[in-house]
Amino acid sequence: MKEGVCVYPGSFDPITNGHMDIIERGAAIFNEVIVSILHNPAKEGAFPVRKRLEMIQKACAHIPNVTFDCYDGLLVDYMRIKNASVVLRGLRAVSDFESEFQMAQLNHQIAPDVETLFLMTSPNHAYLSSSVVREIGSFGGDISPFIPACLVDEVQNFLGQENK
Ligand code: PNS
Repeated sequence: MKEGVCVYPGSFDPITNGHMDIIERGAAIFNEVIVSILHNPAKEGAFPVRKRLEMIQKACAHIPNVTFDCYDGLLVDYMRIKNASVVLRGLRAVSDFESEFQMAQLNHQIAPDVETLFLMTSPNHAYLSSSVVREIGSFGGDISPFIPACLVDEVQNFLGQENK
């Protein structure tokens, strides 16, 4: 039996195979996974939000119980709007722990009904992040091992243009 609804928030700038791993595993646990782009004030953002959303939709087209969204505001407010109480996040390494711990604690303090559920990233994605994809791609390196195959050309083109 599956659980209810969870929200998987993030920058997804762009979506990587590490994100896909968490989405696919989340979709096996929950009836619905809402993948939502939220603004991280610590990050500038490379891809326009609309493009990021299109890429997530394309990459997740094979997973029926995944929906897509974006929101400019606090995650806890978004959770209330969506009537959802579980935030799904992936944990890669010890280095993620401190900021994820802080974020989960703060969200829980502001909205006690909101719980954060962490899935450990599969070891083959432990090193992966959107920022390394952007860095490799912007210098013309091969990003195909790191992002969904259907996105490789458009991400490569976008990063190549940006570097000109
Ligand atoms: O993929 P990221 O950049 O690690 O995702 C972080 C994100 C976007 C989930 C986080 O910055 C966020 O929740 N932003 C919305 C604003 C908010 O609620 N901030 C308070 C967090 S304690």
